[in-house]
Amino acid sequence: MFSNRLYSPLRYPGGKASFAPFIAGVMEANGLSKGHYLEPYAGGAGVALELLFHGHAAHIHINDIDPAVHAFWVSVVSHSEELLELLNATPINMDEWFKWRCVLREEISATIVEKGFAALFMNRTNRSGILKAGVIGGKSQAGVYKLNARFDKDKISERILKIAERAENITVYCEDSLELLRRCEEFLPDRSLIYLDPPYYVKGKGLYRNYYKHDDHLMIAETLKNYKFPWVVSYDNAEEICEMYQLSKSLTYGLNYTAQRRYVGNEIMFFSHNLIVPNMKIPQTKLVS
Ligand SMILES: C[S@@+](CC[C@H](N)C(=O)[O-])C[C@H]1O[C@@H](n2cnc3c(N)ncnc32)[C@H](O)[C@@H]1O
Repeated sequence: MFSNRLYSPLRYPGGKASFAPFIAGVMEANGLSKGHYLEPYAGGAGVALELLFHGHAAHIHINDIDPAVHAFWVSVVSHSEELLELLNATPINMDEWFKWRCVLREEISATIVEKGFAALFMNRTNRSGILKAGVIGGKSQAGVYKLNARFDKDKISERILKIAERAENITVYCEDSLELLRRCEEFLPDRSLIYLDPPYYVKGKGLYRNYYKHDDHLMIAETLKNYKFPWVVSYDNAEEICEMYQLSKSLTYGLNYTAQRRYVGNEIMFFSHNLIVPNMKIPQTKLVS
């Protein structure tokens, strides 16, 4: 059973944690339960963590090309004590915001844990969790909400600890998804599912530090044709994307998306030809805190 509990310490723009029951349904319907699960665009890894904690996946592989996001996950999985010490010792104020922004931008040298903490700090103090956005409350901190509005240290520490306890069931990568997809036979057993949540075709540019151009999306779609492992991919419902995946099964659903402005848009999921698609509703997602 799934609860409304969130496991990721990161708040992620376009986070998909609420898809976890549906993805678990896909695993169940296809005899993939308790197998491995790969998220090549992991971000906050909301789905992966839910699947692991609810016993649907025995091992999760989380990849993100953003070195700061990667450093964060490495710190949680392999250096949790150090990360928690840094979290406890760091006040949440504007001086620290400027400092950690320099670390995030690689303007000063830092250890992997400091880089990971910079990702957490900026994720929790910036608007909508966007690493390259401005700070909550503005630099003058004149807004109603201040930069610590989304920074509940106790809750974040609890989540980090819980994930660290499962470290042996988590592998972290920092690779370009295309490269990872080309080599994942090296580490994925046959009973595995891949869920891809690439940057949106239309809106991806403003949200992440790495985004895709048309041809990058196309390369992924081409790679997934006749692919060895079963896969699910979610996208914004753009004509160009539908064309790329026209031979795949698909489901559309509405997304209540709140990273910058609240609007309801159309989203779409495509499935590899060998997958049975469960008769379950895909919920609306929204930015989580
Ligand atoms: C839509 S977000 C993923 C959100 C995630 N599903 C969640 O629930 O938090 C897309 C992620 O892909 C990453 N990304 C962008 N280009 C990439 C690439 N070429 N390879 C791997 N990751 C990439 C971005 O850094 C971003 O974290």
